[in-house]
Amino acid sequence: NYYAVIMAGGVGSRFWPVSKKSFPKQFHDMLGSGQTLIQKTYSRLKKIVPEENILVLTNSLYEDLVKEQLPKITQNQIVLEPAMRNTAPCILLAALKIQKENSDALMVVAPSDHWIEDEDAFTRNLQTAYDACQREELLMTLGIKPTFPNTGYGYIQYKDEKISAVKKVLKFTEKPDYATAKSFLAEGNYAWNAGIFIWSVKAITKAFEEFMPEMYQLFVEGIEKLNTEKEQAFLEENYAKAENVSIDYGIMEKAENVCVLPADFDWNDLGSWGSLHKELPHDENDNVVINAKLYLENASGNIIRTQKDKVVAIDGLKDFIVVENKDVLLIFPKEKEQEIKKIREIIQAKFGEE
Ligand code: GDD
Ligand code: MG
Repeated sequence: NYYAVIMAGGVGSRFWPVSKKSFPKQFHDMLGSGQTLIQKTYSRLKKIVPEENILVLTNSLYEDLVKEQLPKITQNQIVLEPAMRNTAPCILLAALKIQKENSDALMVVAPSDHWIEDEDAFTRNLQTAYDACQREELLMTLGIKPTFPNTGYGYIQYKDEKISAVKKVLKFTEKPDYATAKSFLAEGNYAWNAGIFIWSVKAITKAFEEFMPEMYQLFVEGIEKLNTEKEQAFLEENYAKAENVSIDYGIMEKAENVCVLPADFDWNDLGSWGSLHKELPHDENDNVVINAKLYLENASGNIIRTQKDKVVAIDGLKDFIVVENKDVLLIFPKEKEQEIKKIREIIQAKFGEE
């Protein structure tokens, strides 16, 4: 009854200019491990989910990248979205497809771009989550112990009942502002949302029916076409009509039966240059250097990534992101990294530069 859905349709725009619309970060080997992030995700999941039950949902643009990087995935395990509509529509579509095949299915929804070192702990937690969702109609997410007021995450306030591993969620707040995030940390009983969700197809489709009835209607109308050769045509015609919203805003902030399982593994969502900085080897002044041949003076806390073997000289630079790729050079303070997403859009509008 175990299924997995890998979400691989995002652009990873806070990693611009390395992650681009034409080649997003999940298809890069961001950590130099020899495997791309989506390949790592797949091999983590297949330890517990039968390989034929793993679906990949992505934008049509990335069909070839998925097939190249996950050669064991067959055509009917890849779902190609004709438009970018964030995570709610993609999760509902996946849930309905799986439900049609197996109405008792339990599914895990996994982002394709995270770093998790301890795969055994991940598998153990996933097993616990599946078991709980088998017993009860829960919307479960994995929680991470927060370490600083990151505004790019969802925050989960939970009831800390020591007896059970799974905790009842009191409130889910997606991407709070800095002051709010700070006050959450001070309060204590909060976890970061890892963005890894576990539920039965029954529980999640019910939640969509209740909280996002229009979207539910849109896809249910095409239910007899799903998993058939008519599916793609149905998506081409209807997918773009779905509201552009994430599961976090659309369902998790609203539903009552949300639970969290605090994760036993170290996790990094590799959401930005700063988070990558944490996972890579540092020099004695906390600089991370990728590819460059460097002359460095009075420099600390920087992340510097160039094209292979570029010679770079830097003097007097602190806490900056310096990233070069073929036609873009980004020099940006680390503390403003959440703005890179916006900058990318401005530059795109101005210069047509991807
Ligand atoms: N198939 C598909 N289609 N996948 C998508 C789409 C889409 O339109 N949009 C995004 N994704 C994929 C991304 O590739 C990523 O793997 C995952 O869905 C999550 O999207 P992000 O855009 O990375 O979300 P986020 O990081 O801003 O926020 C989410 O993750 C945080 C933890 O990393 C939220 O769930 C937060 O609450 C959470 O803390
Ligand atoms: Mg993310």
